[in-house]
Amino acid sequence: MKFITDRTYARELLETANQLNPGPWYKHSLNVANAAEYIVIEMTKKGLHLDCDIAYNAGILHDIGRYKGFTKSVIHSYDGYKFMDELGYQGNAIVCVTHSFPNENKDIETAADWTIVPPYMKEKLVEVLKVNSNYDWYNKVITLCDALADENGFTTLEKRFISVGLRHGTDSNTAIRWKGFYEIKEEIEILIGKSIYELLPGIELSIYAKMEY
Ligand SMILES: [Fe+2]
Repeated sequence: MKFITDRTYARELLETANQLNPGPWYKHSLNVANAAEYIVIEMTKKGLHLDCDIAYNAGILHDIGRYKGFTKSVIHSYDGYKFMDELGYQGNAIVCVTHSFPNENKDIETAADWTIVPPYMKEKLVEVLKVNSNYDWYNKVITLCDALADENGFTTLEKRFISVGLRHGTDSNTAIRWKGFYEIKEEIEILIGKSIYELLPGIELSIYAKMEY
């Protein structure tokens, strides 16, 4: 699986995408990358063979599909997948999809609002999820970090979930999605022997930050 390892190149792709569609997603992507690096460094200390550059760049590029403009639901995942796949980086392309599906390929039908997704996009996304049903550590870490960072910095899962819920609403499947994030968090915390929050400098500031809604 080919990932971008050159940070300068990954950053250039993000800068160009942000010029096409400037928004808070740019800083969010940088913060997701930083969170991923902190977590992966700790995981390597426990003996896992993971590459910090791969994790960092996967964070930088996970929302790259936003270059197309504001799109609801998982359409940005599809656009990101196509973009990275055409550049030849399948690993990064897959992360663009998996981070929107914290429950891996379980409950695909209820994992997104498919009513606003064109059938050919859904078909591709489902195919990618089925082929990559067991997320590797990079996919798990970026999925989790997507919920641990907003445009202002690091944040607790709870604060992020409520903020997203206030802005976009919740439905009967929201709790299933939330559980997916907690499962990944727990799995990593068992491995590193500490809370993930201990790894993210300044995360406590998110408690005092104004809730975005
Ligand atoms: Fe994101």
